[in-house]
Amino acid sequence: MSDQTLSNLLHEERRFEPPDDLAAEANLKADAYERAAQDRLGFWEEQADRLDWAKRWDTVLDWDNPPFAKWYVGGQLNAAYNCVDRHVEAGHGDRVAFHWVGEPDDDTRTISYADLKDEVCKAANALADLGVQAGDRVAIYMPMIPETVVAMLACARLGAPHTVVFGGFSADALTGRIQDCDARVVITADGGYRKGAPSALKPNVDEAVAKCPDVRTVLVVRRTGQDVEWEQGRDVWWHDAVDSASTTHDPQPFDSEHPLYVMYTSGTTGKPKGILHTTGGYLVGCAYTHWGIFDAKPDKDVYWCAADIGWVTGHSYIVYGPLLNGVTSVLYEGTPDTPFKGRWWQVVADHKVSILYCAPTAIRTFMKWGDEIPQRFDLSSLRLLGSVGEPINPEAYVWYRQAIGGGKAPVVDTWWQTETGMIMISPLPGLTSGKPGSAMTPIPGVSADVVDDQGEPVPDGSGGYLVLTEPWPAMLRTLWGDDERYQETYWSRFPGRYFAGDGAKKDEDGDIWLLGRVDDVMNVSGHRMSTTEIESSLVSHPKVAEAAVVGAADETTGQAVCAFVILRESALEDGETASDELIAELRDHVAKQIGAIAKPRQVMVVPELPKTRSGKIMRRLLQDVAEHREVGDVTTLADTQVMDLIQSGLSKSSAE
Ligand code: PRX
Repeated sequence: MSDQTLSNLLHEERRFEPPDDLAAEANLKADAYERAAQDRLGFWEEQADRLDWAKRWDTVLDWDNPPFAKWYVGGQLNAAYNCVDRHVEAGHGDRVAFHWVGEPDDDTRTISYADLKDEVCKAANALADLGVQAGDRVAIYMPMIPETVVAMLACARLGAPHTVVFGGFSADALTGRIQDCDARVVITADGGYRKGAPSALKPNVDEAVAKCPDVRTVLVVRRTGQDVEWEQGRDVWWHDAVDSASTTHDPQPFDSEHPLYVMYTSGTTGKPKGILHTTGGYLVGCAYTHWGIFDAKPDKDVYWCAADIGWVTGHSYIVYGPLLNGVTSVLYEGTPDTPFKGRWWQVVADHKVSILYCAPTAIRTFMKWGDEIPQRFDLSSLRLLGSVGEPINPEAYVWYRQAIGGGKAPVVDTWWQTETGMIMISPLPGLTSGKPGSAMTPIPGVSADVVDDQGEPVPDGSGGYLVLTEPWPAMLRTLWGDDERYQETYWSRFPGRYFAGDGAKKDEDGDIWLLGRVDDVMNVSGHRMSTTEIESSLVSHPKVAEAAVVGAADETTGQAVCAFVILRESALEDGETASDELIAELRDHVAKQIGAIAKPRQVMVVPELPKTRSGKIMRRLLQDVAEHREVGDVTTLADTQVMDLIQSGLSKSSAE
């Protein structure tokens, strides 16, 4: 698309109406908003009928002790049974659950619902033999392979909450998560494939588990065949334990509020938060939103969510949502540029993908690579496009719709969080219009608002903080082991309402535009990173005295990690300077401690940090420096000369 076409589209069409064929066939009926508004709990009760309950609930919502919610109180169900067995029992065993596309491009597998049921039963039997019982936590640290889904569902089948740790996280990050939720079993692989080469996972698990004496079993999938260290009595090959296990396993029902999983996410402090999701409400939320927002139809669609299972998007919209709805999905292991930059579009064409869900950072990258690449493939099967993880800039939205969606596929910009468990704000295909850059309105059954500092709703045309004003089924129930932090983080800023941590505005039509985080959380390529966590990591380096981290605007990744560090006196005395070696050492240090995604794009060695009289670092000013802007108001600084000092110091420092 030429720059002129893009710019015309941006200016001419601020709003896209749903295409007629989609409107006629979409899952959702026009009165969905109205029905939900009139009887919110009745609406969520109706949605719960999408699942098979071993025992029906007595009460839809118990909100007597806010902010601690209970949904579908008294109900009982099994998550894995709902995702897999019931589709097989209904005669759909032959339907493909996953077209798995591995990274070496001839490595593919087709897994039907019947296959998946067998695999999940075998893994559940194997885990039970290894002593896993309901309530035990199991950590999963895996590449994007079918066994990851099987492992999650096997845990869910046994009522053992899983905690999936993204495979890109470091051994230290894995240790913290295993310890925080006291997992006794870890499921991993020897490694995975990334950018054409095998990467290792097991060594990180060995390093982590050395610090977690309570872990008794490490179950290891052989994926790459690379050599691994082996601890007899603790390590068990997946193929030894699972392959020969029985394909029959009786799924026990669990209470609606039984913990399903804990997912760690970055908060405003150095310690990641364990977001707890429970069974009934979470599954209802996933099933309803996946069905409605993606208009997913089991007999027609091939759906592809290109996230990693290690993040919440993968949990809700690769595993639970699509499987609950009995839909066929693509599960993709690789990155977008291996073995070549048209890989995604080749996958779309090969599998006739009709619904694609990905992050703006990917869209911006494809846009940068140019239209010629997608144009080489037949993308006519695509009928709906989703975006998630960060605000999508209007240029990327329009390009996505035009260059990938052929100008006919609507874009659903979906706002939600690890904490919300399900999509909360999004257009509904076939029903509502979309505006480039806006997530539009809360979906039926969800209530959100934008409020000012005092918690008063702002009028249309104004900005403020995004809040959710009513409980919703897939909401987090608490932070693992820390009810107080749960209340404090989400429910104290505006009492009675959930504070999302995002800035937002309502336009003149009352539609919502997300403006990014208002707390010390950055969004790098759609991944949440805590400034404090990276600062703590830098300060733990022996040569660093103090550190401040900001998220600076980045054309491709949305934000990029920029760090400012002050060196220790002892390091300076040893003649340490802002050398390229030191900068590389500090960047690697963060990658080692947290993971490659947290590695700062830039580390700047400075003589001072800008602080207020009460000692708070003024990140706003550092952000100005990182984004090459004129530095803003410095009058509240304890020492107003500091910024001059920083800027003159910077000319001598080395940055990447
Ligand atoms: O700032 C918002 C941004 O991502 C944050 C949630 O991050 P996480 O819990 O990692 O979950 C990401 C995937 C659901 C939010 O607080 N965010 C997510 N989706 C959008 C978004 N910002 C703008 N528009 C979105 N569609």
